[in-house]
Amino acid sequence: MATTQRLAGSQRDRGTRAIDLSVQFGALALKNPILTASGTFGYAAEFEALTDVDALGGVVTKGISPRPRFGNPVPRMCETASGMINSIGLENVGLEGFRRDKAPYLGSLDTCAVVNFFGETFDEYVECAAGLDAIARDVGGVDALEMNISCPNIKKGGVEFGTDPHVARALVQACRQVTDLPMWVKLTPNITDIVALARAVVEGGADGLSIINTITAMGVDVRKRRPRIATVFGGLSGPAIKPIALRMVYQVARADLGVPICGIGGIATAEDVAEFLVAGATAVQVGTANFADPDCAVRIIGDLSALASELEVGRIADLIGTLRTDFEPICPK
Ligand SMILES: Cc1cc2nc3c(=O)[nH]c(=O)nc-3n(C[C@H](O)[C@H](O)[C@H](O)COP(=O)(O)O)c2cc1C
Repeated sequence: MATTQRLAGSQRDRGTRAIDLSVQFGALALKNPILTASGTFGYAAEFEALTDVDALGGVVTKGISPRPRFGNPVPRMCETASGMINSIGLENVGLEGFRRDKAPYLGSLDTCAVVNFFGETFDEYVECAAGLDAIARDVGGVDALEMNISCPNIKKGGVEFGTDPHVARALVQACRQVTDLPMWVKLTPNITDIVALARAVVEGGADGLSIINTITAMGVDVRKRRPRIATVFGGLSGPAIKPIALRMVYQVARADLGVPICGIGGIATAEDVAEFLVAGATAVQVGTANFADPDCAVRIIGDLSALASELEVGRIADLIGTLRTDFEPICPK
């Protein structure tokens, strides 16, 4: 769907006041601020019978690489207190499979399709960005790109591309040369200074920031004396990471880098969404919560109108970046 044709969304709350849920995310007009996160919503078609995909502000696809990947050996997911660990290994259909089997469906949707992508080498990132740009022109189904820089850099012994701001800047710059599509960059939280990384990718040409990807973690099965997933380490997601994600979104928003932020991490309710908006995100993505309830993101959209009404905002965008830190002194003088 063409980015400029998107209609402003508004929903009637439980009273009579219409709440305007639309947000402007850079060049993209979203009918509401709720998207689904990469790797938790397939290529959207898988959810057609389970939820109203068109009601979403957008969908973010599973990460695409130039060629198909079969992912890591099992077990590659395990549950933890307040979340899960996964090491799927970026299994995906590759560029040609995406063009043939996935893009036409995404193009038929009445919502934004954001295509997540990555490469195992510098050149593969660029190849993938160029390939998706061509698919956007020839087939459609690609309104924006989301670049996942949490992928291991094979040439650097498997260190994530996104942990070095210099490498991340150069990678974004190179991809920027081959596409005019809005390009969001998804940041890894597995670093010390999220603002330095955010600044580097904005300097490289990012149009938006997705914050955050999963946090490196592990689980142990004490009876078997084995790690709970075959690759030992995986990525922690779900409610456990929400406070960390909020902190990082707030830090980057406060740095005022001039691009919108999409908040990600443990979002499962309208109140979670509002917290991210108040902290400075313009939109959010729902991830792990989709596994427990595939209709979760759409339910949140309904609940968000009621919450906005309770918070006395007529436009959801009025919540963005409204965090107050001017506490009254606790002790009387
Ligand atoms: C099973 C699974 C697969 C994922 N695959 C991808 C992926 O391909 N690309 C990506 O950028 N993030 C991927 N993620 C990360 C999510 O998009 C999201 O950033 C993370 O799970 C935090 O959000 P959540 O706590 O709401 O799940 C994946 C997460 C899970 C749980």
